[in-house]
Parts: sequence; structure tokens; C-alpha cells
Amino acid sequence: MPQPFTVTPFPVIGAELRGIRLSEQSDTATRARLNALFVEHAVLVFRDQFLDAPQLLAASAIFGDVFPQHNARFAVPDCPMVHTISNAETMENGQRYIPGEGYHTDHSNDASPPKATMLSAVKLPSRGGDTQFVDMYRAYAGLPEAMKARLDGRRAVHVYQSSHSARKLPQLAEARRALVPDAVLQPLVLTHPESGRRALYLNPIRIEGILGMDDREALPLLNELLDHATQEKYQYRHVWQQGDVVIWDNRCLMHKANGDYDMTEERFLYRLMIKGVPLSH
Ligand code: SIN
Repeated sequence: MPQPFTVTPFPVIGAELRGIRLSEQSDTATRARLNALFVEHAVLVFRDQFLDAPQLLAASAIFGDVFPQHNARFAVPDCPMVHTISNAETMENGQRYIPGEGYHTDHSNDASPPKATMLSAVKLPSRGGDTQFVDMYRAYAGLPEAMKARLDGRRAVHVYQSSHSARKLPQLAEARRALVPDAVLQPLVLTHPESGRRALYLNPIRIEGILGMDDREALPLLNELLDHATQEKYQYRHVWQQGDVVIWDNRCLMHKANGDYDMTEERFLYRLMIKGVPLSH
């Protein structure tokens, strides 16, 4: 029997699902419906789940196979395909590290970037720490035709850490460096492999430049596109509730975490990513 649940779409992008229990084995029809909803809404918010790391891993199989994260530093010791997000982390220089700050899409420096990322909330601050998403379909559709023509066929160079990014990532351990490509080319405008819709594909943390374009032209262009894409009219802002599980589509969204809360309070989530396919124009 398919599991009954309600779906409430949000105004810009995303939908809230209530009534389904991700900790229970789902049947084929429920899995197919969830995958269709994922492609349609791009962010799915499952309330009242309270999943630990092995339960999150089991539930993620609804959407595909787990993508191994490039940096293994945050792996859960007895469930290493699941990672942690915690405001107790520090950078190599001892400064606090808030994972996911600044708009980005996940692991775009991989030849086949993860199609989705899934988080399970464990501990939340009493206020703040929201995750913001922007709809890159709408952002693309909202560009002037002349800009669309300028971007057509263009590819960006994505690396582990862009030299232009204000946000710095923790360094990769020596053993992982060989597994991570030096640079990959990704379309600036992609055709979503499942919906067939066109979306802007940006990542200020990973893009080093635009192939065949001088940085004096490319960097202002990338900043202009980022300013355009991150307008409030393209956003869904997720205010976390205890027990939430959220999955989002990295191919048509950018997202960012907010480090705007009282840092004496803990924010702790489990996280994993789902494998994707190579991206194309
Ligand atoms: C992430 O970028 O995956 C983290 C998002 C968050 O912690 O809100």
C-alpha cells in the first residue's frame, strides 16, 4: 500500500510533506511519487522525522546512491557515508567554521556532481540558523535575452577551492587529494537531466573562471549573475524545526547556511549527498 501523505507547495520553490515516515521501508509507488515530487519542487521538507545517521542513510536510498564526500573529515565514525554539520567545527587556523555559509551548490568540482543533498536536524539553535535556497530555473528565466545569448554554450572552470572565494574550505587530507579532480568544466547554463528545464549553474566558492574569457570580463559577469540569482524573489528560506529532514536538488538550486545565531547554542545536523550524472548545456 502506498504511504499516504500531504504535500503543501511553498510560494517560490519547495514543498512541505507531512504524514510520511522516512524511517519505514517505502513501497515502489511511494518511492516513485517522492522522486517525482523532488524533481517538481526541488526542495522537499519532511516534518517530524527525527532520523539518526543510519536511518538517514537508509531513507536516502529512495532517491539514489550515496555520493562520497570529497573531504572525509566530518564523517560519522560508525556510519561514514553520513557526515555531520556542527557549529563547533574549526578551521586549521582555529577560527570557527560554519559549513555551508555563502551561496553555493554542492561539489560542483566533481565531473558528476551530487544531484541532491539531504539533511536531518538533530540540534537547533533557539532562533536563526536557517538555510536559504534560490531557484536557478527562475533565475535563468528572469535574465534578459541578451544575457542568455551571452551565456549560451559557455563553460566555467570549477576547482575544490576558488582563489576568488571569500569563503575558505577546510583543506583536504593528503590521502583524499588524489581522488579529487584539479578542475572540471561545467556549463554556466545547464539542462536539468530529469526535468529538461534550463537553469543557471553557479558556484562562487568553486568557480575559478570562465573558459575562453578573460578574468576582467568573467569575474564581473559572475558577480552580476550571482547578484541576480540571489534576489529575494527567487528564494525559499527554510526555518528549521526539530525532526526536519530536507532534501534539495543541487542542479537547479543554490543554497547557503546562516551563522547568524548565538554560538553558545549548538546546531548539529546529519548530512549526505546523492550521486548525480555529468551535466550538460
Ligand atoms: C550545506 O551547505 O550543506 C549546509 C546547509 C546548512 O547547514 O544549513
